[in-house]
Amino acid sequence: MKIHRLLALVSCIATSSTLKAAGEPPVDFMKQIKPILADRCVECHNSETLLGSLNLQSRALAFEKRKAGPVIRPKDADKSMLYLVLTLPPKDKKAMPATGHRIPKDEVQLIRQWINEGAQWPEGKDGAISPQHKKSGK
Ligand code: HEC
Repeated sequence: MKIHRLLALVSCIATSSTLKAAGEPPVDFMKQIKPILADRCVECHNSETLLGSLNLQSRALAFEKRKAGPVIRPKDADKSMLYLVLTLPPKDKKAMPATGHRIPKDEVQLIRQWINEGAQWPEGKDGAISPQHKKSGK
C-alpha cells in the first residue's frame, strides 16, 4: 500500500516538472529573432553597409572574428554586445538601433533568451537575411 502511494507521488512530481519545461518553449530563431534582425538591424549591418564592422546577414558572418571580439557569446547574453547594445540608454552612442525607435522590451528579452539558449541560427539559406530595401515614395 505505502509503496504505491510513494510511487504515485513520485510520478506526480515528475509530470509537473515536465509540464513546467514544456510551458516555456525555446525561442524560435526563424519566427522570433530573424524578423527583428531583418527589420531593425541588417539595414546597417550588411556586407555593403558594414557599420561597426558587423555583418548580421548570416550566422557565419555574425560570428566572424572582429577586433572588438564576438558580438554573440552563446549561453552568455550578459557578455554579448548584440544584447547589451539593446539595453543601453538611448543617448549612449553604442545604443542600437543607432537611429529610429528602440526595439520593444519584450523583443530585447527574446534576444536575451535566444542567446542564453545557445543562439541557434541555421546555416545556409534559411538563416540568411538580405537587407530590406525600404519602399520609396510612401
Ligand atoms: C542606422 C544604422 C544602424 C542600425 C539600424 C543598427 N546599427 Fe548597430 N551599429 C551601427 C553603428 C554606426 C555602429 C558602430 C558604433 C560604434 O562603434 O560606436 C554599430 C555597432 C553595433 C554593434 C557593435 C558594438 C561594439 O561595441 O562592437 C552591435 C553589436 C550592433 N551594432 C548591433 C545592432 C543590432 C542588434 C541592431 C538591431 C537591433 C543594430 N545594431 C541596428 C549602426 C546601426
